[in-house]
Amino acid sequence: MSNKSKIFIVALCLIVLFSVLYINVQKEPKYPVQTDHIHLNEGVNLNEGRKMTQAICMSCHFNPQTNRLSGVKHGNPSKFGDIYSANITKDSVFGIGTWTDEELVYFLRTGIRRDGSYVFDMPKYSLLSDNDIYSVIAFLRSDDELVQPIHSNIGETKYSFLTKVLVKYFFKPAKWIAHVPDIDKRDTITWGKYISTVKYSCANCHSGNNIFYNNLRPEKSWRYFKGGDPHYDENNNEIITPSLRPVERYSRAEFIDMVKYGFRKDTIVLRRPMIPFSMLDDDEVNAIYVYLQSLDKDENY
Ligand code: HEC
Ligand code: HEC
Repeated sequence: MSNKSKIFIVALCLIVLFSVLYINVQKEPKYPVQTDHIHLNEGVNLNEGRKMTQAICMSCHFNPQTNRLSGVKHGNPSKFGDIYSANITKDSVFGIGTWTDEELVYFLRTGIRRDGSYVFDMPKYSLLSDNDIYSVIAFLRSDDELVQPIHSNIGETKYSFLTKVLVKYFFKPAKWIAHVPDIDKRDTITWGKYISTVKYSCANCHSGNNIFYNNLRPEKSWRYFKGGDPHYDENNNEIITPSLRPVERYSRAEFIDMVKYGFRKDTIVLRRPMIPFSMLDDDEVNAIYVYLQSLDKDENY
């Protein structure tokens, strides 16, 4: 090897080494927090808030030891680091007791916390309607057992080097949308799309990759409703989400059974993270079915 190549290799190694050190010592990026244009209105429905919290937030924030939303170790593969979902009970030190409603709306829609830091691995509810998002917040503030204060934290999140690189250069917060009107339930296809892509996040898991899910234009997400997203059970076994196109391979009644009660007609129980969405009304699951039926078939299915 010539001297020139040796110098080149040494220089390259030094650049890599310094880049690694630089990213490791750098703080996480911070983003601006805008909370001034939010006006919480009257359209709060505690029951809808409870349904959404049970269907969405519980699967990541519920701690079976405390029976509350006090956070657990997040089931991501360890290559992302040690990640704990936060304590979102009403505790004013460890929970969200001192967050304002505006800070919560801003966080839920963009992923940006009130201190400007960004949570990359929680879905962004950018298009959740004002009334629905206020209803979730009203539930988080309610007297329900699930949100009563727990004065401790289960663990502190530590990102791996890979996650630090991704958070610095690739994973970005969702665009802030200050107001989202209600969806007209009489338009079953549009309502079904809203429920399955925004309100109950079916499409986050049933498309190709939840981290790169397109919040603002869900239908542009890679492998939209064609499945393929890897999930992991408690023992780190991979479970790939199934395609829901074409949905006609199940009858409407079978579909409702799977979604609400979590088992297929061959009596096989669906595994986590697919939870039984027993809190949904039949109308809501029916609207999802009608919407999925309106999509083109998965050509590779
Ligand atoms: C896919 C899993 C997942 C889902 C679903 C989820 N979260 Fe989270 N949440 C997380 C993780 C992970 C964190 C960040 C923990 C960290 O990095 O310290 C987080 C952080 C938060 C925080 C920030 C708290 C803090 O003190 O920093 C709030 C508030 C929150 N979630 C509320 C909710 C609500 C409300 C819902 C339901 C609408 C929800 N989350 C659904 C995983 C999830
Ligand atoms: C957190 C991720 C996640 C969410 C959210 C989710 N699913 Fe699933 N779903 C899965 C996984 C994983 C499976 C596969 C389970 C298995 O193989 O045991 C599954 C299985 C299914 C099945 C069975 C399909 C088959 O052919 O076996 C249906 C139907 C389904 N989900 C519909 C829905 C609907 C409708 C929603 C929204 C209300 C939804 N899912 C939300 C992850 C999710």
